[in-house]
Amino acid sequence: MYGIHDEFPQLPGLRYLNHAAVAPWPRRAVLAVNRFAEQNARCGARDYADWLVVESRLRERLQRLLNAPSSADIALVKNTSEALSFVAFGLDWQAGDQVLISDEEFPSNRVVWEALKPLGVEVRQVNLQQGDAEANLLDACGPRTRLMSISAVQYASGLRLDLQRLGDGCRQRGVMFCVDAIQQLGALPFDAQACQCAFAMADGHKWLLGPEGLGAFYCRSDLCEQLKLHEYGWHMLEDTGDFQRQEWHIARSARRFECGSPNMLGAMALEASLSLLEEVGLVEVGKALQERVQWLLDGLARIPGVSLHSPREPGRRAGIVTFSLAGWDNRVLFQRLRDEQVICAQRGGGIRLSPHFYSEARVIEETLQVLHQLATG
Ligand SMILES: Cc1ncc(COP(=O)(O)O)c(C=O)c1O
Repeated sequence: MYGIHDEFPQLPGLRYLNHAAVAPWPRRAVLAVNRFAEQNARCGARDYADWLVVESRLRERLQRLLNAPSSADIALVKNTSEALSFVAFGLDWQAGDQVLISDEEFPSNRVVWEALKPLGVEVRQVNLQQGDAEANLLDACGPRTRLMSISAVQYASGLRLDLQRLGDGCRQRGVMFCVDAIQQLGALPFDAQACQCAFAMADGHKWLLGPEGLGAFYCRSDLCEQLKLHEYGWHMLEDTGDFQRQEWHIARSARRFECGSPNMLGAMALEASLSLLEEVGLVEVGKALQERVQWLLDGLARIPGVSLHSPREPGRRAGIVTFSLAGWDNRVLFQRLRDEQVICAQRGGGIRLSPHFYSEARVIEETLQVLHQLATG
């Protein structure tokens, strides 16, 4: 019988626990890319209309994954960093305006705001580890705070925030709420409307199981026209196919952020990957992932010398487990794990393990055995 593991025919012996970095593609994404390549070789873009159908299906899948009101609110972008840049360099800032972030953001969600310094925008970093993370963020909002930009799940610690609470607090304070959703989307359900975010963005190559170079940008429809554009081209126009037309209007939809020809190759792959996630369902994906994370947490707790850098509480975590091992330099430990075919990452002063919903129990058990052996010599 064809099962989920046929979708991930990974090398025997490989222990792939690095979905928070770059995920393997499911079989169906490989097939979609092969088909697309073959079609290009045999008949070029003769069937471009069919490609557009796949592209719009992708937009609809992303809309459902994000629970955006409409697929017109979704732009297909290069990556998370590009979408964050659309927001940062699109808003009309006044000197003295303030942006709130945490003090453990991935550089994409820090640098982009710090780059506004010449405009007089101040970036304030808030600690999430001491006390109540959401209260710390909301209490840091002042009269000049215009925007809070936060990762749904922190890339190194794996801390998951209560987005609804943050979204509510931001609305009450008149602060725009921007969510870097890359470490949550595809790992756990996400709801742009429930969390009342103004903007959300994620790339396809982590939990969404797609290729690098294609991501989603959700822009709430009432804010679309507030973002000043810095890229122009044929594809972003209301009458996009009418090349003879001299006058032009920018699309009202989020297509306004897509200036030229799309990443059709990426769209083929990502659409196929998302079809798998939708078939399984994000609630089921989330449950299976939580189970695997729990196995890792339980196993690590039995290994002498392990210090956990990630939260244990189910409500506070997604798919990331980061730890360090007493007496081990992380670089050395990372390399030893790699030698044992445990594919993971070195992040935030520790080793980051990130399974996905399909990860086999064997992979987790063997990884824990390797770690136990290394810890006990
Ligand atoms: C929280 C977070 N934001 C952004 C990124 C980078 O995203 P992109 O390469 O799509 O710009 C990463 C990648 O690790 C990340 O973990």
